Amino acid sequence: TKKIAILTSGGDAPGMNAVIRGVTRYALAKQWQVYGIVRGYEGLLHQEMIPLGRRDVGEIIHRGGTMLRTARCAAFYQEEKRREAAAFLQNQGIEALVVIGGDGSMRGAQGLSAYGIVTMVIPGTIDNDMAGTQYTIGFDTAVNTVLSSVNKIRDTAFSHERVAVIEVMGRSAGFIALEAGMAAGAEVVLVPEYAVNLEDVCTQLSRSHEQKKMSSIVIVAEGASTGNEVAAYIKAHTSLETNLTVLGYVQRGGSPSAYDAVMAGRFAQCAVDSLAAHKKNCVIGLWEQQVVATPYEEAQAFRYPLDHNLYTLVHILGR
Ligand code: F6P
Repeated sequence: TKKIAILTSGGDAPGMNAVIRGVTRYALAKQWQVYGIVRGYEGLLHQEMIPLGRRDVGEIIHRGGTMLRTARCAAFYQEEKRREAAAFLQNQGIEALVVIGGDGSMRGAQGLSAYGIVTMVIPGTIDNDMAGTQYTIGFDTAVNTVLSSVNKIRDTAFSHERVAVIEVMGRSAGFIALEAGMAAGAEVVLVPEYAVNLEDVCTQLSRSHEQKKMSSIVIVAEGASTGNEVAAYIKAHTSLETNLTVLGYVQRGGSPSAYDAVMAGRFAQCAVDSLAAHKKNCVIGLWEQQVVATPYEEAQAFRYPLDHNLYTLVHILGR
């Protein structure tokens, strides 16, 4: 019987709990022992470990956040700390560690694997910006949260004939902005992957309003600019009434969408099956519709780019 541990790390994302449940129950079904590490790598350094049984992960599949809690742990960048953490896991007889998180969490797992700990990473971040996968758990929910917020903002923007500037998360990637912008019928989507030209944005917005467009939606990815800067620029360079909404942490919370909850189960299964097949140090991911396990170094060559066609299309349709 194997003994494994799970932790969640970095920014939380809807669906992380569904992954914890999936990994725990699928591993228990193989007669393995499962432990949860509380508060990410921070908790690992403080040796905070709890046993997880089937019932401990009940009633969490639909909950946002992470029952194991999470942290961004600067100390884990130190080699000495990672060595300490590895020694603790070895002393406890933990044979593998499943890490749910983003790119930073993957680097942490890779760092641990250098000390002989077998690790598996399951992508969990709303940003969808990880190597080795075309999908990260939480993205679909976040996009839907942004969509329903933009739809509400659109109502009032229309009534008042205003330009609504909406800043969304995504760190240095524009996936949330582009996908939500497309779904919401935004007129302009600003993403870090493509040059931002605010002069062009103003020309386009003014032209649209002259052609009797009652309201415009401008989505700004936080990695491209700030909503504040964009709204101020539009106010200064056009006669359009403009307001700003920074969506912030609403994007990180809430029940996972059906897609996220289903993918959580599939990623969890692949992580446990990969460990059972004696694979090690892989990131689980969706690639060409298949759930696959890819070694960390290899995964770096698989970076899913922002869809250029979608970027062009959103601007053609939004006018
Ligand atoms: O990675 C998820 C994310 O929500 C990013 O979109 C955002 O840039 C960042 O985390 C915010 O981090 P924090 O939780 O430290 O405010």
